[in-house]
Amino acid sequence: MTATTAPGILRSSVPGAAAHAVGTVDSVNPAELGDVVARVELAGPGALVEAARTANTAQRAWAAVPPPVRGRVVAAIGRLVEANAGPLAALVTREVGKPAAEARGEVQEIVDTCDFFLGEGRRLYGQTVPSEMPDKQLFTFRVPVGTAMVITAGNFPVAVPSWYLVPALLAGNAVVWKPAEYAAACADALARIFVAGGLPEGLLTVVHADGAATSAGLAAALEAGLVDKVGFTGSTDVGRSIGALCGRHLQTPCLELGGKNPMVVTADADLDLAVEGALFGGFGTAGQRCTSLGTVLVQHAVHEEFVRRFDAAVRRAPVGDPRADVVMGPLLAPRFAERFEEYLGWIAPHHRVLGSTATGRITAEHAREGFVGDPATGLYYHPVILDGVRPDDEVFRTETFGPLVGVTGYGTLEEAIDLANAPGYGLSSSIYTTDPRAAFRFRSGIGAGMVSVNNSTSGAEAHLPFGGNGKSGNGSRQSGVWVLDQFTRWQSMNWDFSGKLQKAQMDVEIPSPDAGFRL
Ligand code: UN1
Repeated sequence: MTATTAPGILRSSVPGAAAHAVGTVDSVNPAELGDVVARVELAGPGALVEAARTANTAQRAWAAVPPPVRGRVVAAIGRLVEANAGPLAALVTREVGKPAAEARGEVQEIVDTCDFFLGEGRRLYGQTVPSEMPDKQLFTFRVPVGTAMVITAGNFPVAVPSWYLVPALLAGNAVVWKPAEYAAACADALARIFVAGGLPEGLLTVVHADGAATSAGLAAALEAGLVDKVGFTGSTDVGRSIGALCGRHLQTPCLELGGKNPMVVTADADLDLAVEGALFGGFGTAGQRCTSLGTVLVQHAVHEEFVRRFDAAVRRAPVGDPRADVVMGPLLAPRFAERFEEYLGWIAPHHRVLGSTATGRITAEHAREGFVGDPATGLYYHPVILDGVRPDDEVFRTETFGPLVGVTGYGTLEEAIDLANAPGYGLSSSIYTTDPRAAFRFRSGIGAGMVSVNNSTSGAEAHLPFGGNGKSGNGSRQSGVWVLDQFTRWQSMNWDFSGKLQKAQMDVEIPSPDAGFRL
């Protein structure tokens, strides 16, 4: 929980936070740039070390709390999120510009996560395993890892953090959470709900810090032996350096990185359904989900028709004030707008640019037809469809976080699968087809951790394994029971009650077979 030290100032919840302050940054409403949502006091690396130390102390007592009781705390948090859904979703919309309906969905994802894990408090199963010797019993137990440092992005400022915080805490760990600076107020609100739900002090510490202080603080905390697990959601590049750092400490982080998520549209697909999926996958959250659609691969026979309908749908889609019923609001924060402008520089003469009345920032001169509200107040960009994207284009190979979708034609399904795998990411993927054989061949050929059939690349449910391969992650999975393997370690126990030393492998009595027996 962060304390308000002056109107709108957010400070890290680590004890003695003021001593670690190195500056402030404003978290600004991207739809109303004059609206400062919070002035965030940034901490130096020492705050992360201090927070990890506090977490280590608190964790020991928490691990001794029976898991069903920890589950009751998770239940209370879920109910409080539900009771505060309106204001929390409104804050998500205000701080990161997520359209109201999507923000409600994001808040619901926390409730779903709590609903799932409150029950896990009464399971958290281990196994009883037979021994190879008599009067001996084997067991397995899940034990908490200890202290987790969780570093999250702001495109899902509360739901994706909850995928780490809820199972980590349920499993008996303490968490130090470093949220995105541009989503600090959302983080503060969520952390306050956790505390109100009954989470004892010291188990969830929020530290606001910039990238450089975070990596220095994480390195120092690992070096001091105060961090047992790192969770990171963000870019592939930062994920790589966190992976390298954790590897030096013999740790495997939970990494949820970028994507260049493909959607294959076969000639027999329901094209209107595919267009609807491409519109939501490509331009929902202004294309800033890690599961957002990257490239549509369309079979040649329907390429022109698909592009015609997709273009019409994107031109029609309401863009503007995220408090209204729009498909697309502003970009998350100024730094994302700057980066998106660089991606727009990848548009080449062989691309056919579609989807709007112009490209780049939406202004009075470069207006978007049907814009909802006043584009001058926020970080609004034209949605872009690029037809004719080629496999060697930068825009084909690299994630373009923002409202830009490429379209490429293909001949055979094998070719489509090769194109879908070519960029080397592997988070989400989708195929629109009416042929079940194509769906299953796509599933087995695609390198992605998640496959949708006749559904968009984004919108995964909160209790299936979520995660990627290749440049999208190190194979770790979040959500459902699978995330427990991130926040617990297996401990095995054997108990010999025979009263003598029975040596495994050596004292095993096996009846001898008649190896030469034949009928
Ligand atoms: C993300 O963008 O980091 O599947 C997560 C989805 C959402 C989560 C996205 N449930 O699109």
